[in-house]
Amino acid sequence: MSGLSNKKILLGVTGGIACYKSAVLLRALQTAGAEVRVVMTPAARAFVTPLTFQALSGHAVYTELLDPAQEAAMDHISLARWADLVLIAPATADFIARAATGQADDLLSTLCLATEVQIALAPAMNRQMWLNPVTQENLQRLMIRGYLCWGPDDGAQACGETGPGRMLEPEVLCQMAESHFSPGILEGVRVLMTAGATREAIDPVRFVGNRSSGKMGYALAQSMRDLGAEVTLVSGPTSLAIPSNITTIHVETALEMYSSVMEHVEDCDIFIAVAAVADYRPIQIATDKIKKNKEKQTLELVRNPDILAEVAATESPPFTVGFAAETEKVEQHADEKRRRKQLDIIAANKVGTDEGGFESDRNALLLLWQDGREELPMMTKSVLAHRLAERIAAQYRARI
Ligand code: PMT
Repeated sequence: MSGLSNKKILLGVTGGIACYKSAVLLRALQTAGAEVRVVMTPAARAFVTPLTFQALSGHAVYTELLDPAQEAAMDHISLARWADLVLIAPATADFIARAATGQADDLLSTLCLATEVQIALAPAMNRQMWLNPVTQENLQRLMIRGYLCWGPDDGAQACGETGPGRMLEPEVLCQMAESHFSPGILEGVRVLMTAGATREAIDPVRFVGNRSSGKMGYALAQSMRDLGAEVTLVSGPTSLAIPSNITTIHVETALEMYSSVMEHVEDCDIFIAVAAVADYRPIQIATDKIKKNKEKQTLELVRNPDILAEVAATESPPFTVGFAAETEKVEQHADEKRRRKQLDIIAANKVGTDEGGFESDRNALLLLWQDGREELPMMTKSVLAHRLAERIAAQYRARI
């Protein structure tokens, strides 16, 4: 029996060219056993007529907030209470912005305020609109409030450009809705993770750091949570919003990250090291700001503990996943790290190029484990994290 059997899904359709795919999504959800009602925004109706969705769903499509006939059939509050899930596909940049500011000027945005169930967004927009910091900030605000973000995908766009912003394919969205209602493969599994960069103080105002933004680690933490895991995230300084339902511990230095991980490692089943931890720290931290009164300065550094290696070397180590940031011979160096540190999986990425790796919204990974490998091509970090989380879950389940 499908996880969608008898589930009630309110499909919100907003005004983007990906609307035509929503009709296919509607069919896929129904075929999987869900009962679907459709709400369209005025802009969506400029792309596809309500009649299409009415014919496919066998039910009237809801379009108006202040229409007495529609309110008589099922008023907007009852509609908000009827659903087990609100899925907005496509979710345009405009709709995301309006939801983030709590506007209720049409039926769909009003339903989002009125519903108590989970709301999942399937963003669809031009790549530049997706990458615009304002869109990202709006999305972060919604995710802090518990919204789910499914996608977007990466690839050719209707506007002729290529990049992130395509709506996920209907079958993929249908699978995500299905796994949303199925007990997660990682239900009851405790995951400890590191993410972001560390900062090693030189004096009160300067530090040794690196370019890690935390995007890869935060996306993976959310994907592990979405598979049902109980996630604790030890994070270096980032500008990212704290993800909902994830215990987040903020640290600054490698030593602080090390102590925090060691304090929690006994209580975890899976450990994932995504953080870019400084390998060295200054031997001495100057108490006062260092003056620029010399032509040359020498900074003496000392090795930091290797958190990942130490976790893997504990008496009964958790299922251990490491990352490898490599600039050349990616597979060779990563596999050498996997063997030396005795890791269950290593996720290798090429860094120092124009695309992917540090700071970028996109990345590609090569996953290596004892008797297998998987290549995940360049895609948005959120979709990539979902694919990686599924691989980790499968290998973890196969081992226990
Ligand atoms: O944060 P983003 O901007 O999204 O960028 C993502 C990323 C590029 C940082 C991420 O994908 C990544 O590659 N993370 C690992 C970075 C790194 O430090 O790689 P490494 O090859 O130097 O280290 C190997 C592994 O050992 C890593 O899992 C690292 O977390 C771990 N390590 C390293 C040193 C140390 N002292 N302690 C550790 O735990």
